[in-house]
Amino acid sequence: MEVTIEGKAYIDGDFVDCCIGIVDGRISAIKKILKGDRYYNFGSKLILPAGIDIHVHFRDPGMTYKEDFSTGSLAAAFGGVSCVFDMPNTIPQTTSLQTLSDKIVSANKKAYVDFGIYVGVTDSNVENIEELTEKCSGFKIYLGSTTNSLQLDENNLKQTFKRINSASKPILIHAEDNKCLNGHKMWENNLVDHLHSRPAECEEIAIKSILKMSRNYLNRRIHICHLSSCEGLELLKNRSKNISVGVTPHHLLLNIEKNLKPQALYKVNPPVRTSFDRDALFEGIRNGFVDILESDHAPHTLEDKAGEFSSAPSGHPGVETVFPLFLSLAKKGKLSFQRLISLFCENPANLLGVSKGRIEVGRDADFVVVDIKEDCRINSENLHSKCGWSPFEGWPALFPTCVFVRGEKLIEEHEIQVKQGFGRFVGE
Ligand code: NCD
Ligand code: ZN
Ligand code: ZN
Repeated sequence: MEVTIEGKAYIDGDFVDCCIGIVDGRISAIKKILKGDRYYNFGSKLILPAGIDIHVHFRDPGMTYKEDFSTGSLAAAFGGVSCVFDMPNTIPQTTSLQTLSDKIVSANKKAYVDFGIYVGVTDSNVENIEELTEKCSGFKIYLGSTTNSLQLDENNLKQTFKRINSASKPILIHAEDNKCLNGHKMWENNLVDHLHSRPAECEEIAIKSILKMSRNYLNRRIHICHLSSCEGLELLKNRSKNISVGVTPHHLLLNIEKNLKPQALYKVNPPVRTSFDRDALFEGIRNGFVDILESDHAPHTLEDKAGEFSSAPSGHPGVETVFPLFLSLAKKGKLSFQRLISLFCENPANLLGVSKGRIEVGRDADFVVVDIKEDCRINSENLHSKCGWSPFEGWPALFPTCVFVRGEKLIEEHEIQVKQGFGRFVGE
């Protein structure tokens, strides 16, 4: 036995006092008593599976002044996330074997946590998308335009579903209909204008066309990213099993009626909507209608966000704060630990097919250790994203004191213990 960890661990839906044995980075045994060469006792602290963030934009390559794979994955590590999945809207966009391989080679040198890479489907690569299946973690489709997004005409959606003839790699969709967005385009002075220019109706139209299409492709796994409206959720309530739904912390915790200032920092796609939408989505995570919590970590610098509201890019950081925010809410009883672990560990692992997300023999030994008494408030000075700010400044949070990835201590007492390049590509 190489390493043994003792504490109150989340096993099979409950916290139990036990020892977890680790050999070669994987969980080898879970018993009342175990011996190990290296032994850590966390007493009454909680040991949970580490988080998996299926939706990050690390801006690398091309916009590394906003973020790069090293700072983004360092932020993930401090936030208790052991594995991230990076979106293709970089420069160049990840739409070919070459750009995918280049991104993997570069990320392998920089990553602090494990990672997967999505490729984007566009009108120009849809014809040869199959050749990317093996290497990528999944396919991303943008039905509506957003920050540096990839264009896929709705007419090419069917083509995409036909060609991605494999249930092993999911198709992730930004579900806002472009025609609808174009019909509502206007000069935006503030968040209310942004909301009016991207109404829930556009999300509904996109979801309807996905639902219609998916009926003929029941063996493809489809994930609807960052669901933002009550109407969208209603449409998805009777979805088939192959469709999963993700929601972000900002759509669950923020609403347009709040005094969100400076406004441009909160400009995001799809927009933060009303308290009615927020509450419906929150109910959705409680009762299981929503499957996945995803940060949509989309860092932009304060300089990029300054100036005219209309020209500010959409998106904000989140990978480091998502788990701490929701651990704090779980502590307060707003959401059960069981639901949180399904949403941020178990279901993401299932969707992406990684052997993580559960404390179970055979899986990667990825854990977070949480001292439930260590409440704090989010302070962007202590965060690690290059962008240097957070839309959740001042919010209560519970950061993990210790993070293990594949049995190695990544974070101890809030300090990083490994070097860049420790993180591994999970696709091979
Ligand atoms: C994202 C970005 O900046 O890359 N922006 C956003 O507002 N969410 C793109 C996206 O996920 O739509
Ligand atoms: Zn999106
Ligand atoms: Zn995104």
